[in-house]
Amino acid sequence: MATGSFWQIFLAAVFGVSGVLAVLPPPENVRIFSQDLGLILLWDPPANTSDKLNYTTEYRTSGHLPGCVSQSETSCDVTNKISVFGTYQLRVRAELQEEASDWVTLDDFTVDDMTNISAPSVKLSTRQGEIEVQISDPVMRLGNFQEVYQPVDYIITYWREGDTHRIQQKSDQSHVILTANQLTAKARYCVQVHIQVRFLNKNSTASNDTCLTNSTHGGPPLTSYKVAVWQILLLMLASFLAVGLGALLLFLVGWTSYRGLRYVLPKDKLPEHFVKQYLLETPLSLLEQARGPPVELYHQLSIVMEAPQPPLLAGVQHCSSHSHPQQPEGKGGTEGEREREEEEQRESGGGEIERKGDDGILNSH
Ligand SMILES: *[C@@H]1O[C@H](CO)[C@@H](O)[C@H](O)[C@H]1NC(C)=O
Ligand SMILES: *[C@@H]1O[C@H](CO)[C@@H](O)[C@H](O)[C@H]1NC(C)=O
Ligand SMILES: *[C@@H]1O[C@H](CO)[C@@H](O)[C@H](O)[C@H]1NC(C)=O
Ligand SMILES: *[C@@H]1O[C@H](CO)[C@@H](O)[C@H](O)[C@H]1NC(C)=O
Ligand SMILES: *[C@@H]1O[C@H](CO)[C@@H](O)[C@H](O)[C@H]1NC(C)=O
Ligand SMILES: *[C@@H]1O[C@H](CO)[C@@H](O)[C@H](O)[C@H]1NC(C)=O
Repeated sequence: MATGSFWQIFLAAVFGVSGVLAVLPPPENVRIFSQDLGLILLWDPPANTSDKLNYTTEYRTSGHLPGCVSQSETSCDVTNKISVFGTYQLRVRAELQEEASDWVTLDDFTVDDMTNISAPSVKLSTRQGEIEVQISDPVMRLGNFQEVYQPVDYIITYWREGDTHRIQQKSDQSHVILTANQLTAKARYCVQVHIQVRFLNKNSTASNDTCLTNSTHGGPPLTSYKVAVWQILLLMLASFLAVGLGALLLFLVGWTSYRGLRYVLPKDKLPEHFVKQYLLETPLSLLEQARGPPVELYHQLSIVMEAPQPPLLAGVQHCSSHSHPQQPEGKGGTEGEREREEEEQRESGGGEIERKGDDGILNSH
């Protein structure tokens, strides 16, 4: 029976309420249920309505997009229409034939932040007096837990059964071995784990308490596992040693053969004409090296070409004696030589030409 809507229409007509849209009351108690990145919008039918209403849900990122259209159910799952990291807004309205209620709009939210994360599952085992905790991440409805939430910490709380003192341990690894000295033999221990998402300051639900009695005799499989670990370590060590020795041996062999080749190769491989050339050229090049660069000698020769007159020749000879600058000032500069030099300079223009020659040499450098 349409009594509710009848009264609403009646009241609207009597009091002259302008908004005809407000006739149909909107859904109530609109809320989001989000677990493990799922996204479901829930609501209740408007109060005092016995009509069977339809509801339309929309979600918005930049514009409004249809979620569930004209359905009679009071929930809408939009998980498969959204992305994990998007910011969304959800709204829903009631519909009765051609009538529609106002939209009920929820605040913006991001799914990864808003969602509740289920508890991880925890598996305990004991070996050689240690308790081993193996944690599995909860399964997400959208995406992968690690891809969405890493880096995460696993907060492991453990205690001796019946004891109020609890120990908390934080680990970024999902495989943890508890070795605290509080653990004693034949005692029963309980472990609870929750996950902490670092960048959101968000925690998963805590796992159920999982309990286990410490056992020093782990049984054949666990013991053999321990032995196997040692065997593997030994094997690794041995192989490292073998590889190291092999490398050393290879190096020694290589070095020895290299040295051997250095002695053998020149005798065998150098062609005879090359050897001859080398032997012939060596004394010359050695002399050149001992005397220094031959450039100065060439310049002196060019002066000879320019002025073939006797005074100039004297000057050139003088010049060549100057080509070793230390000689005139050193032992070579005896009184006899100086007299000869002075005589030569007294001869007409000899000194000037000499100076020009010297300048020429200097300028050429
Ligand atoms: C998350 O869990 C809490 C406690 O159970 C609940 O009150 C809240 O509504 C949940 N949030 C969502 C988005 O499901
Ligand atoms: C629904 O009806 C009851 C009684 O008929 C009344 O007390 C209540 O205020 C009404 N609620 C709304 C939202 O109209
Ligand atoms: C609800 O929608 C269906 C089709 O989507 C339509 O046949 C039905 O009449 C609607 N009911 C109401 C109460 O509006
Ligand atoms: C288990 O018992 C052994 C032997 O007494 C002890 O060394 C070890 O710490 C205990 N470990 C745990 C987890 O209780
Ligand atoms: C999450 O867990 C850690 C460690 O138990 C706790 O310190 C922190 O207050 C928790 N944060 C929230 C938001 O519950
Ligand atoms: C935790 O315990 C409750 C009740 O004891 C149970 O219903 C639930 O399935 C358990 N959860 C897990 C992950 O074992």
